[in-house]
Amino acid sequence: MTIETERLRDRVAAELTRARDRTVLLTEAVDDGDLTRQHSPLMSPLVWDLAHVGNQEELWLVRDVGGREPVRQDIDELYDAFKHARRDRTALPLLNPAEARRYVAQVRAKALDVLDRARLDQGRRLVADGFAFGMIVQHEQQHDETMLATLQLRAGPPVLPAAPPPVPPVAVTGEVFVPGGPFTMGTDTEAWALDNERPAHRVEVPAFHIDRAAVTNASYAAFIDAGGYDDPRWWSAAGWDHRQAAGLVAPAHWQRDGDGWAATTFGRTAPVVPDEPVVHVCFHEASAYASWAGKRLPTEAEWEKAARFDPATGRSRRFPWGDEPPSPRHANVDQRHLRPAAAGAFPDGASPLGVHQLMGDVWEWTSTDFHGYPGFTAFPYREYSEVFFGPGYKVLRGGSFGTDGTAVRGTFRNWDYPIRRQIFSGFRCARDA
Ligand code: AVJ
Ligand code: FE
Repeated sequence: MTIETERLRDRVAAELTRARDRTVLLTEAVDDGDLTRQHSPLMSPLVWDLAHVGNQEELWLVRDVGGREPVRQDIDELYDAFKHARRDRTALPLLNPAEARRYVAQVRAKALDVLDRARLDQGRRLVADGFAFGMIVQHEQQHDETMLATLQLRAGPPVLPAAPPPVPPVAVTGEVFVPGGPFTMGTDTEAWALDNERPAHRVEVPAFHIDRAAVTNASYAAFIDAGGYDDPRWWSAAGWDHRQAAGLVAPAHWQRDGDGWAATTFGRTAPVVPDEPVVHVCFHEASAYASWAGKRLPTEAEWEKAARFDPATGRSRRFPWGDEPPSPRHANVDQRHLRPAAAGAFPDGASPLGVHQLMGDVWEWTSTDFHGYPGFTAFPYREYSEVFFGPGYKVLRGGSFGTDGTAVRGTFRNWDYPIRRQIFSGFRCARDA
């Protein structure tokens, strides 16, 4: 066994532990009533997320990689995300909070034992470079963000303390020019990249302009004040239908506060901060704003080129700032702040072209439908991405303040329905050159 392999094994164990610490923090912040209650028909009860995280870990690490006996085969069906809609899950005979905690701890002990004996340097593709473990780490981290979104939908006094995000040294506004030409999109070399990020492929992207920062609350409020929600000119046909049917008048969680706006964030109501990115808008609201502003949403390829392309070398970076994983000076991730930071707060995280805060803060809607890249093959299961390919879902990029730094990178692709805004979603605008 090489030193390299042993270092990877230690890193995997540390990442599993870090993900679990976050899961424990989120699920211990509330009482058993809040764990089993339905806070929104869009979300599972938190106790379902908890045991589902354990069940996926059991399926992939204990049974598949480890070849061990099942811990609880009888509950597989309850925690299969395709068997019951989120809105129906409170009615299922789920493990109660104490049982769920016991279950995930039991599975984790076995998974760590499997990790100790696994050959990370050779053999099955599933295990090479610790991929299966990385997939399960990221799966737990994705559910940690989902649980955070559930806690944002919870009514009642605040339960999650967090430090405020850093204040920008200088405000960032305006746009940058991105020269036309090919760049490498996606990856073949990122060890823990998921199937939909592969393979790397060259994409020709015509010249365009993109905003240096995400659209702020102040800019978005100007759209509302200009009557943007009442003017079908700015909305697509589907967007206008949805705006009418759902009665949209402002981002989710906003309410009038004198002649301005206040927002409720994890149980605290306060005036919206003008230069923070707007959050909790759906794709249709984002596109309507962009039309009103005389712009459009970036395509997914434009977003990735703005984030990764280094014009000095022609190479695509792992992250906007380079190849090192996010540190607190690069990006607002890891649920450190529980709100987006104002535009300009992370100058060290800017891309070579001068685009700021592409990673962290808010997920950014793109205009692109979720599809496989040319040469896509599902791995290790079709239900991670392939079954979602098609015109129904729009791609979001970059992660939010609620995303873990291990679960996002320059190539990472998220997706949701264009009407959804329970996620930490915002956007930036682009336009043709
Ligand atoms: C990638 C966030 C769209 O939550 O539906 C979690 C992640 N997949 N469990 C989702 C996921 C399976 C997925 N998203
Ligand atoms: Fe899941």
